[in-house]
Amino acid sequence: MNQIRTIILAAGRGKRMQSDTPKVLHCICGKPLIEYSVDIFNQFGSKTYIVLGYGAEKIISYLGAKFSYIVQKKLLGTADAVKAAKKHFQKYSGDILITCGDMPFLKRQTIAQLIRVHQKSRSACTILSAIVENPKGYGRVIRDADNRPISICEESDARFDQKSINEINTGIYVFNAKDLFSALGKVSLNARKQEYYLTDVIGVFSRNKKKIQTFTIVNSQESLGINNREDLAKAEAMMRKEIVQQKMKQGVTFIDTKTAYIDTDVKIGRDTTIFPCVVIEKNVVIGKKCTVGPFARLRSGTRIKNGVQVGNFTEISRTHVDSGCVMKHFGFLGDAKIGKRVNIGAGTVTANYDGKNKSITKICDDAFIGSDTVIVAPALIGKKAKTGAGCVIPQGKKVPCSSVIMGVPGRIKERKERT
Ligand code: UD1
Ligand code: CA
Repeated sequence: MNQIRTIILAAGRGKRMQSDTPKVLHCICGKPLIEYSVDIFNQFGSKTYIVLGYGAEKIISYLGAKFSYIVQKKLLGTADAVKAAKKHFQKYSGDILITCGDMPFLKRQTIAQLIRVHQKSRSACTILSAIVENPKGYGRVIRDADNRPISICEESDARFDQKSINEINTGIYVFNAKDLFSALGKVSLNARKQEYYLTDVIGVFSRNKKKIQTFTIVNSQESLGINNREDLAKAEAMMRKEIVQQKMKQGVTFIDTKTAYIDTDVKIGRDTTIFPCVVIEKNVVIGKKCTVGPFARLRSGTRIKNGVQVGNFTEISRTHVDSGCVMKHFGFLGDAKIGKRVNIGAGTVTANYDGKNKSITKICDDAFIGSDTVIVAPALIGKKAKTGAGCVIPQGKKVPCSSVIMGVPGRIKERKERT
């Protein structure tokens, strides 16, 4: 296999989003667009370069130091963005995979195939194309009389007859690096948009008799690019459906698939049932044989072990809940560690935030938290301890094992063991 490196173009502001946030930091199912791209593309090639411009610091601080960042000073188009990376490729003669940061549905296998097809062919470029019902807004693949691709025509420059072409440029390509950088020098400014188009490189190649080919995506849904809020909402719904379908294949029951809002990177064990109107955020892990909802929100950082019941009007945030716990009715657990077989009564609240800091609540195995208990964190409830209804556990309190605490503020009563 030839050497391959990746360039992700993500400098654009995404004007059509009408947002202060750079487009690629907008989320679909809890995960920013750029993270979908890096998760896929970082699996190929020896190095990933990300071209940034608008909001570069925000994106770098989100993604961290794992990648090589290149800043495009002025946003003069996709060809200019690639040129900004030129100095890193002076002595490089392998292939370059170029993609953008706004296509969350791409599949790993598609990119692997694209690279394979390119490297077999010795083409200067392989364009990943797609056949779509509505090509509006995309660059169209123009072919000659022998059906060979000869250029890409952007929507704004397309003639009436070209607009009906439904083979589009997905914006993903594999280039031979030497051919690419020599052609980039010959791309001229698009007068209408005042931008240099990377797609014009294809026209330069065909004038210079370089071999160009396309590889067409089988499932055109993968080519959906996000340009505005409407695309974002459509993508969110599509991704959500994909996630729920995948979970059902893994043995999760959904009472109502339409109202299950499950982010990406969530794990749910077999034979768990998700009731209607449930929100489960990114990176939450739920064990086997649990029930969640209706009307529950499990927030990032939450881990729920096997056989846990989370009922209606509950919010659980950054909390670990061990196996066999029951929280059937309304309540809030935040920054808490809950042991095994704990009963959390209706209305239980961990008061984890004092206005400045967040603190931890620890509830040990087999504890019984009575209805309407407020636990002001940090606090510890020992094994088999019980709290009375309406009790307020003061900040810093350690409730001993097997004791009973009651009242406001809570005072320890000796626990009477049943005979
Ligand atoms: C581009 C393609 C179009 C293709 C479509 C697929 C060009 C000229 N057109 O159009 O043929 O059908 O993608 O989605 O390439 N970017 C920069 N710097 C810039 C401008 C853009 O890094 O100066 C980045 C953007 O952040 C984005 C990507 O390049 O990730 C594509 O830019 P965008 O403006 O979305 O191009 P499209 O008009 O969608
Ligand atoms: Ca785009």
